[in-house]
Amino acid sequence: MKLDETASSDPWHFARPSLAAAYLDAFDLKLSSARGLFARRRMGKTEFLQQDLLPAATERGYLIAYTNLWESRAAPDSAVVSALSEALAPHGMQAVLSALGRPVRKVKAGAKILGSVEGTFEAELGTEQSSLALREVLKQIDRQKKPLLLVIDEAQVLAHARNGDFAHALRAGLDIRKDRIKVIFAGSSETTLRTMFARASEPFYNWAALEPFPLLGVEFVDYTVRLMNSMARNRLKLEQGIHAFSELHSTPEFFKRFVERYMLYQVQGVDAALSHTKATVFSDDHFHKQWSARNPADQAVLILIARSDYGVHSGSGLSRLSEMLGRPASKSTVSHALRRLEKDNAVTRLGLGDYRIEDEAFADWIRRKAAAER
Ligand SMILES: Nc1ncnc2c1ncn2[C@@H]1O[C@H](COP(=O)(O)OP(=O)(O)OP(=O)(O)O)[C@@H](O)[C@H]1O
Ligand SMILES: [Mg+2]
Repeated sequence: MKLDETASSDPWHFARPSLAAAYLDAFDLKLSSARGLFARRRMGKTEFLQQDLLPAATERGYLIAYTNLWESRAAPDSAVVSALSEALAPHGMQAVLSALGRPVRKVKAGAKILGSVEGTFEAELGTEQSSLALREVLKQIDRQKKPLLLVIDEAQVLAHARNGDFAHALRAGLDIRKDRIKVIFAGSSETTLRTMFARASEPFYNWAALEPFPLLGVEFVDYTVRLMNSMARNRLKLEQGIHAFSELHSTPEFFKRFVERYMLYQVQGVDAALSHTKATVFSDDHFHKQWSARNPADQAVLILIARSDYGVHSGSGLSRLSEMLGRPASKSTVSHALRRLEKDNAVTRLGLGDYRIEDEAFADWIRRKAAAER
């Protein structure tokens, strides 16, 4: 990916320079060399990392490497290695490949690099070799004058047991380079990220401070509404924008769809645009699929969490579950369901017995469905 091309081309991007500066300042002050950020889906993590943080880091003289592990979840190791190699491109990467005995002719210039190297690694490197490739690319980075910022988006993929060897190798490699390589881990699953950084048996234990990613709010709405008003005939009031944003669960992606709808169908007015957007983004179809893929115990537990009438582990919670399932539900019914739901990122554990459905819109849908069926 060519980050510098995307940085300035999107007029709708609400820039967050001070947030980017704050992260980089903390690295400069050597307070930490790694941070973990989490926020729910579609809240703007990736956009911030790519369009604000990485360009700001480049300006401060960092080499930058970015990878989104969800897109490469089959081979996160080669994704990390190729992101690091790309930061060195083209010379550093050629050196890495030749050290590994790879034919250098496979490396093509420009944007093709990522794809081709990733393909090469994926096809030809086993786990051992990817750790070797990692060591090699880190050695190349040691030879650079500039420090490096590595951003690992959807980092929770590294928490999978099958990626354990590589994760250990990565941690070891980065640990001894704390002053030259700074790392940001981001992800949408708080639960999994917590496991990664808080469990003593995990490779990244105690390595990065994990904190919520600051969400977009009124300033973002204000920016977007002003920009839209500069183009639209029927202007939108800031309060109308704020109302729509909140109705859309403060989700920037949905708000932008609302703005687009409003611009295209201005004569229909703001209410029509909002209800159209809600109908599409909180679409029944999509939730229906998620719902029917779940077994009855999972569904019943989801209802309990969505309605939050009773604690999932409480006595009244269990009897409510038994009622819904038409058979006696036990504590292990609940814990098995919770384990599955957490594994799929459907549900997050906030505290003892305190759970939340990751997708607030899905929770809403469940509440409506449960109310209609009573
Ligand atoms: N700073 C911003 N300015 C304008 N729009 C934004 C901004 N951040 C996010 N958005 C809008 O929200 C959408 C979702 O953002 P993004 O993909 O960054 O979320 P995310 O938190 O990475 O989600 P996921 O967990 O699903 O990967 C973007 O495609 C964009 O439309
Ligand atoms: Mg993202």
